[in-house]
Amino acid sequence: MKNKKKNFNYVPDSRGLIVLREPHSSISEQYRAIRTNILFSHDAGECLSVLFTSDMPSAGKSTTVANVAVVFAKTGKKTLIIDADLRRPTGHYTFEVANQSGLSTALVNDVDVNEIVKETSVKSLDIITSGPIPPNPSELLSKKKMTVLIEELKTRYDIILIDSPPIVPVIDAQVLSKLVDGSVIVTNVEENDWKTLQEAKQLIEKGNENIFGVVLNNKKNIQSDNSYYHYGRGG
Ligand SMILES: Nc1ncnc2c1ncn2[C@@H]1O[C@H](COP(=O)(O)OP(=O)(O)O)[C@@H](O)[C@H]1O
Ligand SMILES: [Mg+2]
Repeated sequence: MKNKKKNFNYVPDSRGLIVLREPHSSISEQYRAIRTNILFSHDAGECLSVLFTSDMPSAGKSTTVANVAVVFAKTGKKTLIIDADLRRPTGHYTFEVANQSGLSTALVNDVDVNEIVKETSVKSLDIITSGPIPPNPSELLSKKKMTVLIEELKTRYDIILIDSPPIVPVIDAQVLSKLVDGSVIVTNVEENDWKTLQEAKQLIEKGNENIFGVVLNNKKNIQSDNSYYHYGRGG
């Protein structure tokens, strides 16, 4: 049926929105802890914009963004995900929405914001998918149009969460870090190394931008409670 909203408890696919499937699990509790910590970093009232990046590829950024966005939306805050990983976008798979147009479309053409914002199956949660993968992601994200777009979206949402590529290998996330209130670094503790994680932190700090914290993803058996997610302050 056209425009029919999906059941909240429906799990879109194996990418796994655990906060919908198992809202009372300790893992979901960790996502709510990330939400709380992000809120602590911000003055109430204004739109809060947060960039999620990582030291290395496949750290769990998109998984973290999706689950944290859902727990923000569940509090009734008008929440937007922007899939600004124009190299390996996944937001459209996770939320099962079309990706013929999206962020890249708006940055290349003159497209109205309303044409690229899509509703998700979760109440209060919208997404701007990547759009077609462009040949020049960092160039596109550096355009004045991107700044203007984010400023416009800040007037419409309470929370904006931006997914991005890893910050050490490519410059995209560094560019995006200048457009938001702060960044969260996601790292896969089973595969990371201290030097690369430090480098990620320095790349954000080099631009005098805020780091809200570091998500230690894939950390097994924290305090033997089977939590797979942990949140720690950067710095
Ligand atoms: N804590 C976790 N436990 C198990 N699988 C995870 C975890 N975090 C991410 N994954 C899986 O690892 C893969 C990469 O995660 P993803 O969020 O896409 O990373 P990134 O966006 O940083 O590339 C995905 O298949 C995702 O489902
Ligand atoms: Mg990703």
